[in-house]
Parts: sequence; C-alpha cells; structure tokens
Amino acid sequence: MVSAGQVWIATIGMGLALGCGSATDQPAPAAATVPPLSRDDVLSGFLGKHWPPLPLPLQGPPPPEFTSVEASLDPQTCGACHPQQYADWRTSLHAAAYSPGLSGQLVEGALAHPAEVRNCLSCHTPLGEQQPYAAALRPEPAFDPGLREQGIVCASCHVRAHRRYGPPRRGVPLPEGAVLPHGGFEARTEFQQGSFCAPCHQFFDDAGVAGKPLENTWAEWAASRHAREGRTCQSCHMPDRRHLWRGIHDPDMVRAAVAVELADVRGAGRSAWAELRITNRDVGHRFPTYTTPRVFAALWQADAQGREIEGTRVEAVIARQIDFSTSPWQESFDTRVAPDETLVVPYQVVPASPAVQLVGRVTVDPDHHYRGVFASLLGELESEEARDRIAQAARDVAESAFLLAERTLSIGPAGARGEAPEAPGTPR
Ligand code: HEC
Ligand code: HEC
Ligand code: HEC
Ligand code: HEC
Ligand code: HEC
Repeated sequence: MVSAGQVWIATIGMGLALGCGSATDQPAPAAATVPPLSRDDVLSGFLGKHWPPLPLPLQGPPPPEFTSVEASLDPQTCGACHPQQYADWRTSLHAAAYSPGLSGQLVEGALAHPAEVRNCLSCHTPLGEQQPYAAALRPEPAFDPGLREQGIVCASCHVRAHRRYGPPRRGVPLPEGAVLPHGGFEARTEFQQGSFCAPCHQFFDDAGVAGKPLENTWAEWAASRHAREGRTCQSCHMPDRRHLWRGIHDPDMVRAAVAVELADVRGAGRSAWAELRITNRDVGHRFPTYTTPRVFAALWQADAQGREIEGTRVEAVIARQIDFSTSPWQESFDTRVAPDETLVVPYQVVPASPAVQLVGRVTVDPDHHYRGVFASLLGELESEEARDRIAQAARDVAESAFLLAERTLSIGPAGARGEAPEAPGTPR
C-alpha cells in the first residue's frame, strides 16, 4: 500500500526543499541578515509625498472656483464623468475594503481602541475624511461615515489637496488650452510603477517572521523576472488600465498563471512514481503572496466509478503558516511557490485494488486564515453589532474555495498506464 498521508515536497528552480505540510517540525530556513526594507527604499520623490504614512492628510478646503461636483470625494460623483473606472472599481475588493470582517473587529475589544482603529483603517479606508479619529485620537470633525463605507475610494489614489493626479493621458493629446473639470490633472509616470502599490501591499521597517514581513508582495515582485522585464503590478492587475484588481479570489486569474501537471515519472509496476507539479508560471510574486490563503494539493487512487480508494491519499499544503500563539511569532513552514518555480508532490504508485486511476487535485482557499479568525471571534464577541458583522464576514468566505485543476493518470494492472485526458473542472 501507499504510505498515505506522508508526503515530501520540493521546489525545482532554486533547488531548495522548503519543508512541507506533514513535516512541520522541520527547522525554518535561517532568517536572512539583510536589513528590513525601509519606506524610503521604495517610496521616494513623488511617491514619498503622494504616499506619506497612512492615513492620508485631509484634503482641506476646495479651490473657490470648484463646483460641488468637482469638490466631491464620492466615487459615484467621479463615476458620472469616469463611468468605466467607476463600474470596474465597484466590483473590486478595493471598493469592498471596509468589509464586515474588518469593521466587525473594530467595535469592541482591543481593536476598538482609537489608535488601533486608525491603524486598521489606514490601508482599508485611507483618506483622512474616512477616519473617525484624528491623529491626536480625538474625534475627527471632517469624518464622513458614508465615505468610509466605500473602502479604497478613487481619491485615495488620485486626489491630494483636491488636485487630481493620474497616469499620462493615452491616445491623442488634448487640444492646447483645453479647460477640464477639476482644474485638469497632473500626469505622473509613477502611476505606472509597481512601487505605487507598495504603501498597502508591503510592510516596511519590519524584520518580520523568519526574516520576511507578513506582507512582502512588493519585495517578492521586485526580486522576480517580472520586475526585471518591466511587468508591473498594474500590467497584471490593471491590464488596459482596467480598475478590476482581480487576484486570488478569481479562479480564471489563478488558472491562467499557475500550471498543474500530473506526470508519470519513474519506473513501472511496484516502483512507479508519479508527480503532481504546480508551477508558478505567471504570478508576479509568490503563489500565494499572503499568509492568509491556503492551496491544497492532493493525490489519491480511484476505482472505475471514480470513487476514492481509502488509504491511498496524500496531501500537501501550499502556504506560509505562521504560529501566532507563540511570542515571538514563528513560521511553521513556507511552501509558497516563487515565480518560475515548480513545487513537486511525489506519489509512489502502488496500485491498490481496484484502482484504475491516479487523481491529482489542487484547490485554492483564498480566505483560509480569515475563516478560522471569524469562527473564533463569533465565540468571543458580545455586542450585537460586532457579532452581526462577523457573522456576515463568515458567510462571505464560507464558499470562497475553488477547484484550480484536476488531473488523472490511468494506473491499474502494471504496465497498463499512460496519461489520461484531463478531467473537466468542476467547482468543489
Ligand atoms: C464633471 C466631470 C468630472 C468629474 C466629476 C470628475 N472628473 Fe476626472 N476628469 C474629467 C475629464 C473631462 C478629464 C480629462 C479626461 C481626458 O484626459 O480625456 C478628467 C481627468 C481625470 C484624471 C486623469 C486621467 C488620466 O488620463 O490620467 C483622473 C485621475 C481623474 N480625472 C480622476 C477623477 C476623480 C478621482 C474624480 C472624483 C473624485 C473625478 N476625476 C471627477 C472629468 C471629471
Ligand atoms: C498595510 C496595510 C494594511 C493594514 C494596516 C491592515 N490591513 Fe487588513 N488587509 C490588507 C490587505 C492588502 C488585505 C488583502 C490581502 C489579504 O487577504 O491579507 C487585507 C485583508 C484583510 C481582511 C480580509 C479581507 C476582508 O476585508 O474581510 C481582514 C478581515 C483585515 N484585513 C482586517 C484588518 C484589521 C483588523 C487590521 C488592523 C489590525 C488590518 N486589516 C490592517 C492591508 C492592511
Ligand atoms: C488603488 C489605487 C486606485 C484607485 C482606488 C483608483 N485608481 Fe484610477 N488609476 C490607478 C492607477 C495606478 C492608474 C494607472 C494604471 C496604468 O497606467 O496602468 C489609474 C488610472 C486611472 C485613469 C486613467 C485611465 C485611462 O484609461 O487612461 C482614470 C480616469 C482613473 N484612474 C480614474 C479613477 C476613478 C474614477 C476611480 C474610482 C472609481 C479610480 N480611478 C480608482 C489607481 C487607482
Ligand atoms: C490604500 C491602500 C491600497 C493601495 C494603494 C493598493 N491596495 Fe490593493 N488592496 C488593499 C486592501 C486593503 C485590499 C483588501 C481589501 C479587502 O478584501 O478587504 C486590497 C486588495 C487587492 C487585490 C485583491 C487580492 C485578492 O485577494 O484577490 C489586488 C489584486 C490588489 N489589491 C492589487 C493592488 C494593486 C495592483 C495596487 C496598485 C495599483 C494596489 N492594490 C494598491 C489596499 C491597497
Ligand atoms: C506577472 C503578473 C503579476 C504581477 C507582476 C503581480 N501580480 Fe499579483 N497576482 C497575480 C496572479 C496571477 C495572482 C493570483 C494568484 C496568487 O494569488 O498568487 C495574483 C495575486 C495577488 C494578490 C492576492 C493575494 C495573494 O495572497 O496572492 C495580491 C494582493 C496581489 N497579487 C498584489 C500584487 C502587487 C501589489 C503586485 C506588485 C508589487 C503584484 N501583485 C504583481 C499576478 C501578478
């Protein structure tokens, strides 16, 4: 029989064995001795001013010639003249960033403290006008609760002191002396740089856990082939300048960038091995980049009716697992797949009667960590408001896992093996 449950995984490319789901007692790789990435390393010049430490300063009074439409920070008002960006943005996770999972944690307990509220809102609702508390932690007179509901609004990226900033205009230049609403805009090439996204997608001045900050997306990207080839965050997440920001919650986006192959590698009969290979072909950072998703890879044998044969399953987890119960926090394992690397899950094929197929399946659970957080919060929270919000958050993530790929290989009587056609994908 197959040694079910036991699995070794390795990555090809850097020649590193990165530990695995079942061998959590393996020592974590030694922490790198490089100094932590600082804000100034990434956000200098225009970007340093455009992205001061968050939340952003208040816009202040609008220029006297501005109409109320031009002075409005409400995305719907921007949308009256920029309908495409507004329609896209509304469907994005940026628009949903003041989520029940966030807001429900800020009602009671330690995170209800004004300093914590300000910290949590700094990336999720970054405008000064979206903050209930000002820097001195007194109530903010300019606070607009309706604007906070809308998450990362257009103005977070495009408006400073009521002045509009955007990428250089595409297409034919505007006629000389054209008078534009909101006093026109300042064109900045920095909108097309990967560093533009760093203020919220990278922790700075943070030694992290095992030498890596919990949020390290910019640094992962900067070290990749993609950065060298000039492929920015925007080129993958905002193609054609669309404002959709699809990521790990979008099955098509993940399928297009991650290759899954089930290969028959060595020998036949009783010494046969197969490998499930998961290749980060076109993700511009680790797959996945955060500590919150989990990707599950499983192999098992199935009978002629496609039923799993008990005792033949092996599983591997692709994730960065942090143990938050220890002080300091510890990394249990990090099996995420770096750009251009392949993660291999080997399987010793000892056909179990009545096996005819080996099945390899990869599923993506984008909200794995949060699902656990929300479940445990529901047991702790007391106020109705907090409980309602977290219960909504738990419902939102209940069904977010999806099937990335399923592959099969025919096995059965020794010698009668060969690659079978791919099984069509069906959601789990
Ligand atoms: C009354 C109509 C109107 C409203 C309201 C409006 N805009 Fe504009 N905006 C324009 C026009 C017209 C242009 C010039 C478009 C062009 O270059 O073709 C422009 C240009 C821009 C640009 C520069 C685009 C580029 O090519 O880089 C940005 C960014 C922008 N607006 C953001 C906003 C934001 C954010 C809001 C809401 C806070 C907003 N606008 C509200 C009409 C409007
Ligand atoms: C440096 C920017 C930053 C700060 C500060 C921050 N977050 Fe987030 N948060 C993110 C990003 C980026 C994501 C999406 C990626 C992910 O899944 O981790 C996210 C995702 C989340 C999610 C899951 C998605 C959702 O909205 O349900 C929750 C819940 C959350 N954050 C809560 C918090 C809380 C609570 C705090 C304060 C303790 C906080 N965040 C502080 C950037 C930040
Ligand atoms: C998270 C930051 C962010 C948010 C939020 C955001 N944008 Fe943008 N926007 C960008 C970036 C970055 C670009 C340039 C992308 C590129 O050049 O690849 C851009 C480009 C634009 C352009 C130029 C489009 C073109 O085709 O030339 C307009 C207009 C614009 N945004 C308006 C808006 C409006 C309106 C909203 C809200 C509905 C909004 N943006 C929300 C970051 C943002
Ligand atoms: C002001 C902070 C901020 C900026 C700037 C920002 N983001 Fe985000 N982004 C977030 C937060 C917070 C979330 C998570 C929202 C949630 O789910 O609650 C997020 C979510 C995302 C997601 C969805 C990830 C998923 O789970 O599927 C993508 C993709 C993304 N951002 C890309 C970008 C890119 C590309 C840029 C630069 C053009 C950018 N972001 C700029 C804060 C920001
Ligand atoms: C070469 C294309 C590419 C580039 C460049 C790229 N990404 Fe991604 N990104 C993806 C794909 C594909 C996914 C979905 C698979 C995944 O989650 O790893 C993704 C996922 C994400 C997610 C979802 C969270 C998670 O745990 O994976 C975030 C947030 C994100 N990207 C932000 C960024 C930021 C910020 C940059 C630039 C610093 C960037 N990406 C550069 C392709 C790219």
